[in-house]
Amino acid sequence: MPTETATTTAEPAFRVDNYVVKDEDLPEFRDMEFEDINQLHLDHPGANDPEYRRRRDYIAGLSKKFRETGVITDVDYTDEEQGIWRHVATRLEELHQKHASPFYLKAKKDLGISTERIPQLSEMNRCLKQLTGFRLAPIEGLVETRGFLSWLSYRVMLSTQYIRHHSRPDYTPEPDIVHESIGHIPMFTNPNFADYSQFVGHGARLANDKQLEELGRLYLFTVEFGLVEHDDDIKAYGAGLLSSYGELEHAFGDEVERRPFDLEEVINTEYTYSDMQPLLFVIPSYAELKEATRKYIESFGEARA
Ligand SMILES: [Fe+2]
Repeated sequence: MPTETATTTAEPAFRVDNYVVKDEDLPEFRDMEFEDINQLHLDHPGANDPEYRRRRDYIAGLSKKFRETGVITDVDYTDEEQGIWRHVATRLEELHQKHASPFYLKAKKDLGISTERIPQLSEMNRCLKQLTGFRLAPIEGLVETRGFLSWLSYRVMLSTQYIRHHSRPDYTPEPDIVHESIGHIPMFTNPNFADYSQFVGHGARLANDKQLEELGRLYLFTVEFGLVEHDDDIKAYGAGLLSSYGELEHAFGDEVERRPFDLEEVINTEYTYSDMQPLLFVIPSYAELKEATRKYIESFGEARA
């Protein structure tokens, strides 16, 4: 999940429609900036639990190792961590059957994401690379918006490995393995969604600060809180919805307005982190989302030329 904005960067020209990213095309992971838990707000449920912080630091250390070696280290999750997963994943699974997009349900199964145990990034990464050429890169904390989104341009999703605090299994103020693997990762097996994500990444590399803000909104209202039409019905595909039972139930409740997706409107609509979203956007299909975004991102290039 992206945080604040950074300053404008100048990037060399690149092809917007290049969907194949080779190992040698990737930038150095070791140059990535991040924010660690010591800088996180004190309202984090684990902030005053020294044991939790030690454990989170240890798992973050494994991600740091990835940046040096390029190899994902599996986490030997504890019984307590597995218990948090089973609790959250079981409750979410019931809601997914009712509200999740059929593509997502199938993808979760294909990736072997079950209610039984926490999946490892290494196994999901192998599967993703084969299906859509997308990769997962472990990260030890939050990354600023341009940096986070720019990795999508290389078909790379930065992903945390630690899990939320046991006192609040229903809540996390930051991404964790539940949010990443139940929320984000399954959708990257969809070719149109993967290409769409790459366009957002391209956009982040080309955008000025105002455009970056717009891209942040597009990301939020699709990748995090997106809804999609399916057989005269509406289903969820956004990670923020699919990884939170509160958000998911709210999204289909009476207090939410579900409006047809319009890119121009989405990039000009404010979102809120402090409360649940009162307005959500419904895309007709992942292919149409991809095409609308391609045109939008291409206009960034024209503006710079
Ligand atoms: Fe997210």
